[in-house]
Amino acid sequence: MVEGAGSVPVRRPGNLSVAALGFPSAQLTLNEAEGAKGEPNDIVIKLLSVFGTPSPECAAKMEVIVVSSTETYRRLARELPHPEDAVLEIGCSAGGATRQLVKTGACVVAVDNSRELSARVRSELRAHGNLKVACVDAKDIPAVAGLMPTPTLVFLDIGGNAPLDLVALHLRLVLRAFRPRVIVVRSFELALLTGMIKQTEAPADPSAHPDHYVSFGRDIFAHLLDLSASSRIGAREWAAWRLKNHDCPTARQRLREMCADPHPRVRKAALRALRALGEDTSSASLPV
Ligand SMILES: C[S@@+](CC[C@H](N)C(=O)[O-])C[C@H]1O[C@@H](n2cnc3c(N)ncnc32)[C@H](O)[C@@H]1O
Repeated sequence: MVEGAGSVPVRRPGNLSVAALGFPSAQLTLNEAEGAKGEPNDIVIKLLSVFGTPSPECAAKMEVIVVSSTETYRRLARELPHPEDAVLEIGCSAGGATRQLVKTGACVVAVDNSRELSARVRSELRAHGNLKVACVDAKDIPAVAGLMPTPTLVFLDIGGNAPLDLVALHLRLVLRAFRPRVIVVRSFELALLTGMIKQTEAPADPSAHPDHYVSFGRDIFAHLLDLSASSRIGAREWAAWRLKNHDCPTARQRLREMCADPHPRVRKAALRALRALGEDTSSASLPV
């Protein structure tokens, strides 16, 4: 584990619902009296392995570092990469961490969903032949993987104060698609949560939960089904529109369900997707 990259030490016993993470609902027992059962990073890995990704064997080979401050994040960007690394940076903003990453000699792909910021970083750092900058929404994992198929390091910062479920969503997408040796995440809420977790219970028999363990690969359809159940309206809307490219009974069924989504933007996207699939959306059977 990297020194100085620990999480905020908060101790608070009790039960914590992690349904907000966007994973199947479950309870983690936080018991101060039991004491810490592992390093915070181990705990994050266990948490994520229980709720979808990756398999325990894969998790054992990866390290997740959760930080709060931009200073620590940028320091890790300066210290972690070796020249032979392939670094994926999600949320490069104006290039504060990107500048550190490119100096290490590693091959760097930096993405941001802001056209203006990605263009600025591309222009300002154009002298660095080891850098590629793209305007991409990081939820679009196939697009990200097209730019860098096998990153060995991932830096993920979509904003320190981004909601935990959104951070977890991005983290899970990254964990499903890639097998980096280290993922550095900047998130106040995740840092706080990991500092609170004192005990987790991994399933005794992982095969009893086959749906929770996802094999390595870019299963785009599985990503979209995941996103379609996100607590983020934008992610559900985005997933609904892309599900139209997967014409199968499961996609159609999910889109029909999404026509009853609480948010009108998601309902509209699901209806448009169903129409694009040639469904008669005037049907009274649709829960609009
Ligand atoms: C706090 S800034 C990152 C700062 C950067 N780590 C640094 O050291 O300067 C967060 C960035 O994430 C970007 N972002 C947010 N959501 C994103 C998404 N879904 N895909 C790509 N970039 C995203 C935002 O546009 C913003 O520029």
